[in-house]
This record gives sequence, structure tokens and C-alpha cells, in this order.
Amino acid sequence: MSRSPSWSRAWDEVARLAAASSDASIAALLRDEADRHQRLTLEAAGVYLDLTHHRLPGGALDALLALADAAQVGERRAAMFSGEAVNFTEERPALHVALRGPVPELCDGGAIAAEVQGTLARMAGFAGAVREGRWRGATGQPIRDIVHIGIGGSHLGPQLVVEALSEAGSPVRCRFLSNVDPRAFERALQGLEPAGTLAIVASKSWRTDETARNASAVRRWFADGGIAGTALHGHLVGVTANTAAALESGLPESSLFPFHDWVGGRYSLWSAVGLPAMIAIGPQRFRRLLAGAHAMDRHFVEAPPARNAPLLLALVSLWNSLALASDTEAVVAYSDALRSLTAWLQQLQMESNGKRIDRDGEPVPWPTAPVIWGGAGTDGQHSYFQALHQGTAAHPVDFVVALPDARDPERRGRALVANALAQREALLVGRDGSPATADARAAGADARGRRLAAHRACPGNRPSTLLLLERLDPERLGALLALYEHKTAVLGWLWDIDSFDQWGVELGKVLAADIEPLLDPGQPLPDSLPAARRELLRRLRAAWPAR
Ligand code: F6P
Repeated sequence: MSRSPSWSRAWDEVARLAAASSDASIAALLRDEADRHQRLTLEAAGVYLDLTHHRLPGGALDALLALADAAQVGERRAAMFSGEAVNFTEERPALHVALRGPVPELCDGGAIAAEVQGTLARMAGFAGAVREGRWRGATGQPIRDIVHIGIGGSHLGPQLVVEALSEAGSPVRCRFLSNVDPRAFERALQGLEPAGTLAIVASKSWRTDETARNASAVRRWFADGGIAGTALHGHLVGVTANTAAALESGLPESSLFPFHDWVGGRYSLWSAVGLPAMIAIGPQRFRRLLAGAHAMDRHFVEAPPARNAPLLLALVSLWNSLALASDTEAVVAYSDALRSLTAWLQQLQMESNGKRIDRDGEPVPWPTAPVIWGGAGTDGQHSYFQALHQGTAAHPVDFVVALPDARDPERRGRALVANALAQREALLVGRDGSPATADARAAGADARGRRLAAHRACPGNRPSTLLLLERLDPERLGALLALYEHKTAVLGWLWDIDSFDQWGVELGKVLAADIEPLLDPGQPLPDSLPAARRELLRRLRAAWPAR
């Protein structure tokens, strides 16, 4: 499926319109376009999406939809759902959608669905036993703490769900260990008793160095607590797509929760990698999370392009990458429970779409993969929002608002939501610093006052998206995550890149293995190393002789 002439023409048209609209007034569009609200807001699978606050004239939306058509987004979506090898560099499907519900488009969907249900049932049996205290450790004690060991996709999704959906009084606490830094290990295991702890080692490849070392450290921690050999079977389970390697590392088959190679690492939350989340929130609520994601999958497949939430979110993102000079997207979650959303999205969007070569092996002629950044509101308001309001570049912002519990005497939840709306409004309207304004008059008519008014002025007209979850329940969270997953896939199709591989991150892993021995004072330093690097290595060796 190489790029067709109609695809290139559609791109040129979108690029032309984006350049012409780079200064379009959002306020004027909101005021003048009678159907803007109808065209650019919608609800999908319980997520309300408002795309009205962008420098996107209604007419340009038609050009974007024409581009999606020319890029054969519908065909590529169908290919993904039917299990074709859409990960074309690794020649395998990306079938995470099959983990969340039946996929009618899939050829051998029945067999896959049966297997998925089998794995879910096994996970649910185990999760239920742990939660109800029936799963006993080596000393007969029930499990009270989980330490989940994994990194990247084997960490971020489960952590996000645990934080978002854990309820007070959960019988099991869950901690996450991803970083290879020994301090991370100390923090993750601080205060835990080996006898009441279960470690879950999650690694799709079972080859990730950080996870292997942390798993080894956890095994040592158990052994120091008197739990080793077969006694460890009650305290350590593995989740992987590489069962052969996991078995070789000494885990019995009964302690393994496998999943398939066709589940990409950053889409693996929905597989057995979600086990800690299932234990933390309970099997029922985990199934509701899957159901919410499945509802968004069906919306993505069935909704017409002009009312298709993932498609519209992707098209607006593409528009901003062409119309604005910023190359970033901020995501601010007005929900403490979603404080890890940005980190999850960073991996999802930047590992998926941080590519520069197209399907034919040629350089992509357009900018891809804006930097994703942000965090939790309201904290960000006292930090990077300054740059959002007054920096030289206009960065589009996703305001993700999940309505908090309203029963709060201090009405903090109400303040949280009001702050999200106020920030969005401030980005839109800005503050005029011209002499005629009351604000400028208040600053004073003299030279200092005029200078101050200029410093206080905010340009406004800064774009934002609002995503509203009226409740943060499992269904809506599943739908939100699936929405962003499909947005990411659509962008990859529009850019004609492989969103499902990650060759770039491999190089650093190889080099780390080469460099690590050079930190050892006993190793000769190769003469071929440039002087600056030899000097750095000498310093490291001198500062850190005992290892
Ligand atoms: O950093 C690359 C990566 O392969 C991610 O795509 C993946 O989520 C992470 O490492 C962890 O990999 P694994 O689950 O195989 O340990």
C-alpha cells in the first residue's frame, strides 16, 4: 500500500490549509461557525470529546477527512482488526483488540477468543485466590503485598490502572519496580515482609536487562527471608510471551501466565500483563475495563469518519503538527487517579510513532510524533502552565477531566474541575495588554506601567482539547485508553510508518552491554576511544572504585 497520488494531493491540501490557518482565531471560529459545536464534539463509549478549541476551520475538517480517506485509514484499520501483519517490519499482527472482546473481523476469531477467555479465567482464579487470602505463601501466610517487576509496556499500563481504580480497603497493596537503580528497589520493597509478598515478573521478551536484574534482586530478597527453591513458587509468578526463556530461568509452568507475540509491549495491559491490576481492582472490575476498551474498539470500527472519536483526535493532532510550530502536545489530567496517564501516553505515542522512515523505506516528508509531556492538574498550573500561557510557542493541551467525588466539605473536587475549565478559558481568551484595557490602566500610565502591562499580557488563542469522563469507572478508563491507542494507530497510518515496532530503543540496549564492562577498573580502555570519553570513564572508575 504505497502512497497514491491522491494521498499526496490530499496531504498538500491539508498542509496548505494548515499554513493558511496557523493564526486563525479560535474565538472567532467558535462565534461564527454555527455548526462547530455539532461537528467537533461527540461522546464515544462514555468519553466526551470537545475539539472545538483548535485553530481548525470547519472547512479544513473536510480536507482532513479526505486525507484519511486517501490514506486508506479505513482499510488499514480493517487490516489491523482482521489480524493482518500491520507491524510490517516485524511481520506480525497487532491484535490487542482481540484481548478485550470478540472481534467479528478476525478470521480465526473464535479460537483466539476462546484462548483469551481461558487466560482471563486463569488470571481471575489466581487473582481471586490472592485477594481472598486463599493463596498462601511458603509460611502459610496470605499475600498482602504485590511487587510488580517490569518496564515500559510491562509497567506503565498496569500502574496506571492500579492507581486509577484501586479502592480504599483493597485486600492487597501493589507496588511497581521498573528502574534498574538500586534505590528504586529499596523504595519498592521497603517495609515488606517476604512471607506476605508476591512478586510478579512481567516481560514480553523475558530478555529485558533491567527486569532480569530486578527479578534476580527480588529472588535474593526472598532467599534472605528464607524463601527459596520450591518455596518460592508461592511468591513469584511470571508473565511473558517467551515461555521457553521463562521456564529456562527456573519458573515452573504453573507459575507462568503467557500471552502472544501479537500483543505489542505497549498494548499489553489488556493481556496477562494486567495481572497486578486484576489483583488490585478485582477480576470483575478488570473485565469491565476490558469491556470499556472493547466499546471504544467497536466505535472506532463502526462510527462514520466524521463522528469517529479516535480518527478526529488523530486528525486534529496532525493538523496541529502542521499549523503550529510547537512539535509538542501537553496532556494534563485533572484527576489524581490519572496522574500516570502522561507517562503511559509518552510510551504509547512516542515509542509507537517516533519514526522517520515510511513503509517503502523512504524518509517521511512530514514531522511525526510530537513530544508528549504534562502531568496532573492542578499541580502543572504552578509550574509549566506559565509556558503554555506566555511562552513563544503555542502547545496544544489535552485537558483530561474525570469528575471526582462530589461529597467533599471543602469542595476540592469542584475547584479541580473549575480550574481545568478556567485554564482552558485562559489559554483561549488570554489577557490583553494594550493601553486601553482596564488591566493596563491598573498597571499605570507611565513607562513602567506600560512595560508591566506587556509582561502581564497573555496572547491567548492557544488550542486545547477537552476529554471528559463523568465518572472514573473501569469502563470509561478502558475507553479512554483505547481512544488514545487508536488515535496513535491512525496517526501512524497517516504518516505511513510502522506504529508497532520500536527499533530505535534497541541500539541503546546493545551499547549498554558494551559499555558496562568499561566501568570495571580492571578492563583496559580501548585506544580508539576519543579523549573526552576516556577521561569520563577514568573519572567514573576513580569516583566509584568498589563495586
Ligand atoms: O523499551 C523497549 C521495550 O521493548 C518496550 O517496547 C517494552 O514495553 C519494554 O521494552 C519492556 O519489554 P519486555 O516486556 O519485553 O520486558
